[in-house]
Amino acid sequence: MAYSTPIINQGTQKRSLRVERSEIPDRQEADISSSLPLNQILCGDNLELIQQLPDHSVQLVITSPPYFQQRDYGAGMGNEPEVESYIENLLRLFRECVGVMKEEGSLIFNLGDKYENSSLLLVPYRFAIAATETGLVKLVNNVTWVKLNPTPRQFRRRLVSSTEPFFHFVKSEDYFYNLDAFMTSEDASKKSRTKGMNVGKRYFELIDQSDLPDEAKRDARLALARVIQEVRTGQIHSFRMKIRGLHAEPFGGQDGGRKIQLAKKGFTIIRLRGNALKRDVIETPVESIKRCKHPAIYPVKIVEEFLHLLTRPGDVVLDPFIGSGSTAVACKKLGRHFIGYDLNPEYCEYARNRVDEAPGETLNLFGMSS
Ligand SMILES: C[S@@+](CC[C@H](N)C(=O)[O-])C[C@H]1O[C@@H](n2cnc3c(N)ncnc32)[C@H](O)[C@@H]1O
Repeated sequence: MAYSTPIINQGTQKRSLRVERSEIPDRQEADISSSLPLNQILCGDNLELIQQLPDHSVQLVITSPPYFQQRDYGAGMGNEPEVESYIENLLRLFRECVGVMKEEGSLIFNLGDKYENSSLLLVPYRFAIAATETGLVKLVNNVTWVKLNPTPRQFRRRLVSSTEPFFHFVKSEDYFYNLDAFMTSEDASKKSRTKGMNVGKRYFELIDQSDLPDEAKRDARLALARVIQEVRTGQIHSFRMKIRGLHAEPFGGQDGGRKIQLAKKGFTIIRLRGNALKRDVIETPVESIKRCKHPAIYPVKIVEEFLHLLTRPGDVVLDPFIGSGSTAVACKKLGRHFIGYDLNPEYCEYARNRVDEAPGETLNLFGMSS
């Protein structure tokens, strides 16, 4: 089954659907889903199209609006004369997005910055502050995308911009959050790096340099070799070693345990189990797709990580500025429903074809592949 659908024309009737739907609070979830344009890319103005969605129907809104005065997409947002009116327009849509979001849902907004008279405007942060000042949302994180291959244009008197924020907003404290599923491939690659030959090697040198008696040095080397093996075989994530005379004593706690080991044996080993810290950083290259008509694509990998973190399989994800369809591609791959809007018919057509060709399976209303 293909994802493509006919273009919904821009003259879609304006209605007060949100109000009508809000008045039916006990409407069944499946019933709501059946009224959604699931797995479709609709062509038109997002402010109009979003009116067709019921309240509390979307788990995640993830999007990258046109940046302030950066590109001419022909029409739509982005080319307002002042940053204030740009943010105002964006907030209008933001409020609608909050309205269609479930209580346990999230919003991710990615924005880029802009220089004016050689001075940064801090547009993304102005938007984030204005969004929280609506009182509708809380800002959970500012996740920084570190571009591994930024535009190689070196200015003489400023550094190359190579980061962009992805703001994570929620409307209640009960937001769905699957921390264990976030950046697991990163954990795996870190694990395989720590499984490499050099893990813990520096501690052998430190043992040799220490003032420990020969017998204690021998025991320390043996214990170190054992714990390195535990890391290599994946039994533990990592470890730290403390050697008497070289490292500070452990803070606080009782005098027993590690302090006694340091005093008696001359060393102690702290085994670190579990996953690496989940940090607010995603490092990935800027994507480029051959013959892609769209000038500003965001990485599918970033969308995938937020899908893992903030949605379950079968959930509904909305991207009101879908562009080349990156959000839809990630959703198809990970078994989430998507709804995408774009004003430009050429991008809509491109996005539909891109999704049709992307790996993954179409989900039906109940989240099963068909
Ligand atoms: C930064 S791009 C999104 C790129 C997308 N994240 C991707 O990976 O391809 C912003 C998109 O918003 C669209 N757009 C601008 N104003 C719009 C509006 N009012 N309604 C719907 N789409 C709009 C533009 O045509 C453009 O494709």
